Amino acid sequence: MATLIVLVMVLLAIAAMALGATVGVPGAIKEPPRPKPKPALATAGVGVGVLLPEQMQQEAFFREQQRAAALRLQMPSVEPDDSPGMQMKVMTGILVSGLIILALGAYALWEPTREADAAQIQLHENVLRGAALFTTYCARCHGPTGTGLIGPNLHLQEFAARYKWNTSDPSDMAKMRTLVIQTITNGRPPTPMPAWGQENGGPFNETQISNLADLIMTNGWQYVVPAPGAATAAAPTPAPNAPPGQALMQKYGCGGCHTIDGVAGMTGTVGPNLTHVGSVPKIPESTGNLTNTPDNLAKWIFDAPAVKPGVIMPNFSQQGMSQDDAKQIAQYLETLK
Ligand code: HEC
Ligand code: HEC
Repeated sequence: MATLIVLVMVLLAIAAMALGATVGVPGAIKEPPRPKPKPALATAGVGVGVLLPEQMQQEAFFREQQRAAALRLQMPSVEPDDSPGMQMKVMTGILVSGLIILALGAYALWEPTREADAAQIQLHENVLRGAALFTTYCARCHGPTGTGLIGPNLHLQEFAARYKWNTSDPSDMAKMRTLVIQTITNGRPPTPMPAWGQENGGPFNETQISNLADLIMTNGWQYVVPAPGAATAAAPTPAPNAPPGQALMQKYGCGGCHTIDGVAGMTGTVGPNLTHVGSVPKIPESTGNLTNTPDNLAKWIFDAPAVKPGVIMPNFSQQGMSQDDAKQIAQYLETLK
């Protein structure tokens, strides 16, 4: 479309120039037909010794006429060529110039829309890329569609509300984007939010981080397709005869931080590997405060920070976990010898 318009404009411009060469350009003005000199006048009144008053008057009149004729010869004519052919050319010239102005105007109006459309398409592609990255890398902690799990809800309104930002204020949104980029790039030590930027040893370049920011800033969660495995990363479909405790762990997203070999979605590396947690003497092993009994384990699972203040394992009692859920999970974990 753009090339077409440009082509038309170039053609019109060429036509206008061709016409202009014969119409309005000063150098192209046709010389007017020269009036024939009147040689008889040159000798009028000469050859007679004495000039009568009438003769003198006549003489002066002729001289005046001669001078006027000579002057007319020197000056280019300013009289328009109003032959029908020339009128046609002038009209066409005006018409063509008009068309060019119209075409330029239309192009000027259309060009910004075209750019905006292109930017919109680009943004949409970026959001789709961000959505794919999210499913692969972030869903296990922020939930299959970003509504939060171990990590907070990343939907625009909820996110902005945490910082008291107004989503229709561009300056607030600029701050939010900066925070998002920084958080993804550098992580949030000592929270489980990892650093994803390549400069921090992570897997993502700036473009990928920007794509994720586009997803979050446009609130494009409808494009996030939970992958069969990852959807469930937060709450994987439990194996048909999986112990209830295992299904509960998948529901609460323990797999975002812990690995249990052979269990879907349990691949996290933030906390210790729980594949043989049943054989660990103390809970947590690193502090050795609690002996590893089903009751103590349930206490830990229910509210880890109460047992060990400052631990990044969340307080699940605040995430809707019941005492009974904690006990079932503990029972299951004790079987992992
Ligand atoms: C291992 C779990 C985990 C993974 C994986 C993870 N996050 Fe996070 N994320 C968190 C936690 C926990 C927080 C909250 C940190 C805090 O308390 O300040 C967080 C915070 C954030 C925040 C800031 C939210 C706010 O309110 O300030 C953003 C943005 C974010 N994560 C984006 C991502 C993106 C994008 C990915 C995928 C590339 C990702 N996270 C992967 C756990 C995770
Ligand atoms: C945000 C990350 C995170 C999440 C989510 C999380 N944990 Fe943990 N968990 C940890 C960390 C870190 C430790 C180690 C604490 C320490 O040693 O100081 C830990 C320790 C444990 C331990 C003790 C293991 C040992 O060997 O000492 C158990 C058991 C455990 N978690 C179970 C769970 C269960 C069950 C869930 C889900 C209901 C869960 N965790 C969710 C981070 C997490």
